[in-house]
Formats: sequence, structure tokens, C-alpha cells
Amino acid sequence: MKLRTVLGFAMGGTDLRTGGAVSDAARGPTPITATTEPPRLGNAVNDDNRLKRNYSQQPPVIPHRIDSYQVDKNFNKCLDCHAREKTDFSQAIPVSDTHYIDRSGKVLNHISTRRYFCKQCHVVQENVPPLVGNRFRGDPADAASAPKK
Ligand code: HEC
Ligand code: HEC
Repeated sequence: MKLRTVLGFAMGGTDLRTGGAVSDAARGPTPITATTEPPRLGNAVNDDNRLKRNYSQQPPVIPHRIDSYQVDKNFNKCLDCHAREKTDFSQAIPVSDTHYIDRSGKVLNHISTRRYFCKQCHVVQENVPPLVGNRFRGDPADAASAPKK
């Protein structure tokens, strides 16, 4: 009986020690029983200026908005512009050859499933100050642009 009362309290989201709502640092003040609201995204950078890569194997970041571009098993909106056969018309940068190679190194005549979900690797940018400082230095060829110590 006593155990049930304790469980009842815990499930109700009440901190037994303080009597207040249960919260944890990662969730902020949102009680355990409520759903956290993710911060709203602002306006992604949409200036169409291709950004320099910090190291040669970096997936280039996306210089345009991608809101509501469908990417699922039925359709890939990115490929509508970026597929190699579409770029004459779309003027987009064609996906590189690497995107046509499967995991055993075979070159395919269609995009590899490894590279189908573009947003796994390519991301839009927001005009906001970085949350965490970063002194990463890229390839020596790019070192000139790295911040001085
Ligand atoms: C309507 C056509 C169109 C669609 C759809 C589109 N793009 Fe683009 N994308 C472009 C064009 C054109 C550029 C060249 C820069 C510019 O004009 O924005 C570009 C640039 C890029 C670049 C920069 C490449 C580099 O080397 O700097 C990336 C990465 C990219 N797009 C990824 C994507 C992804 C991922 C999607 C789907 C979520 C997508 N694009 C959908 C037209 C498109
Ligand atoms: C597994 C990670 C990954 C996925 C998924 C992926 N890419 Fe890439 N992409 C990269 C990397 C890494 C590079 C740079 C090196 C290279 O070209 O392979 C790149 C390069 C590019 C470039 C620049 C090509 C150039 O010649 O400058 C474009 C455009 C691009 N990707 C578009 C796409 C689109 C569109 C999709 C989805 C259909 C996609 N990528 C999926 C990792 C990925």
C-alpha cells in the first residue's frame, strides 16, 4: 500500500523530497510529465553563396533554404535539382561521383543508398553566434583562414 502511494507520487511528477515538480538539467524547467518544446528554427541562410570547406572531405554546407523539400522513400526533392542529369537545367552543383559508389566500391548508375538521405551529412546554416568555441584547423591549404592562436 505504501509502495503504491510512493509510485503514485513519482508518476504524478512530484519530487518527493521537495514536493515540487520533478525537473532535470537537460530538460530545463519542463516537468518530466510534460513534453519539451524544441526551440524554433529561425531563417536559414539563403544567400546562395557556396561556403568554403574547412577540410577536403567535409560535406559542403547548404547555402539555400530547404524547408518543405520532401526526402523520403517516394521522392527526393534534392535530386530534382542536384542529380547529374538535372543540373543543366537547374544550375545546381551536381552531386559528386562518390555519391554513386556503394559500400563495396561498385560504381552504380543511380545514387547510392548510402547517400540518399542528403540531410544526414549536408546542413543548412543559421546566422547565429556559435554556442561553443572552436579552434579546429583544417587542411594546411586552408590554414591561412584559420584563426591565429
Ligand atoms: C530548386 C533547385 C534545388 C533544390 C531542390 C535543392 N538545391 Fe541545393 N543547390 C541548388 C543551387 C542552384 C545551388 C548553388 C548555390 C545556390 O545557388 O544556392 C545549390 C547548392 C547546394 C549545396 C552547396 C554545394 C557546394 O559545393 O557548395 C549543397 C550541399 C546543396 N545545395 C544541398 C542540397 C540538399 C541537401 C537539398 C535537398 C534538401 C537541395 N540542395 C535542394 C539548387 C537546389
Ligand atoms: C554520408 C554523407 C553524405 C550524404 C548522405 C550525401 N552527401 Fe553530398 N557530400 C558528402 C561529402 C563528404 C562531400 C564532399 C566530398 C565528396 O565530394 O564526396 C559531398 C559533396 C556534395 C556536393 C558537392 C559536389 C562538388 O563537386 O562540389 C553536393 C552538391 C552534394 N554532396 C549533394 C548531395 C545531395 C543532393 C545528397 C542527397 C541525394 C547528398 N549529397 C548526400 C557527403 C554526403
